[in-house]
Amino acid sequence: MAAGMIALEHVSRTFVSADGGRIEALRDVSLTIGRNEFVTLVGPSGCGKSTILRIVAGLILPSSGTASIEGSVIREPRPETGIVFQAPTLLPWATVLDNVLFPLRMMNRMSPDSAERARTLLKLVDLAGFEGNAPRELSGGMQQRVAICRALVHDPDILLMDEPFGALDALTREEMTLELLRIWSERRKTVLFVTHSIPEAVLLADRVVVLSPRPGSIARVIEVDLPRPRSFDQEGSPAFQGAARQIRELIFGQRHASRAA
Ligand SMILES: Nc1ncnc2c1ncn2[C@@H]1O[C@H](COP(=O)(O)OP(=O)(O)O)[C@@H](O)[C@H]1O
Ligand SMILES: [Mg+2]
Repeated sequence: MAAGMIALEHVSRTFVSADGGRIEALRDVSLTIGRNEFVTLVGPSGCGKSTILRIVAGLILPSSGTASIEGSVIREPRPETGIVFQAPTLLPWATVLDNVLFPLRMMNRMSPDSAERARTLLKLVDLAGFEGNAPRELSGGMQQRVAICRALVHDPDILLMDEPFGALDALTREEMTLELLRIWSERRKTVLFVTHSIPEAVLLADRVVVLSPRPGSIARVIEVDLPRPRSFDQEGSPAFQGAARQIRELIFGQRHASRAA
């Protein structure tokens, strides 16, 4: 069997809304993500992107079908997984440094060099000097960078990211994108990354998974045939433009896509 690090097999998920109605979020999603692969997930708002991530993170279970990591069914959050949510979700009463160290404390994996590792990560995202601050003293973008450090502190094999750069300004966003690619290429992680930015989806990915509107199912999987290391200079290349155009057509339909191209 090829190393299918993450496998979703016929995954469906239905929610019960506050008024008792049923919301079918995902319908029959099957997807295999290989070890060290970088996969991005795009699709219209409400199509189930976050639901897929939460299933892989072990935060919720599928209504039917199975999700597994290396053949073992995901039933709860796992230590080999790191997750970054769209909102930073930091502990308000803890310092920046303690927020980054939180997963290690939870997993009882603190070691003498843990604090140093957390500081190195904070430096990497330009937050050296803020270790002792409270989250409320930081901007939204800075808080999100803390959350990214927190997801990386235990060096997880699998990184799940739900629109992690949404709150960042354009320049920081570009910087973080390149930084993430650098970390990924150095530490060889399996990444599942949700974004609503088509250029971001293409620039990062080995494969872009395009979801249909709710109930979310896979409309198409697009291979991105661009050399690595990637850079923003590649955005003008025919391969990049072709992939972006295909995705736009799938999401917005043909007419809009040709106008936007
Ligand atoms: N806990 C929940 N209870 C009820 N409905 C939910 C819940 N979580 C998600 N949904 C619904 O499921 C659909 C998919 O949600 P989500 O995965 O957050 O979409 P996306 O991330 O693609 O915007 C939406 O219609 C959303 O309102
Ligand atoms: Mg979402």
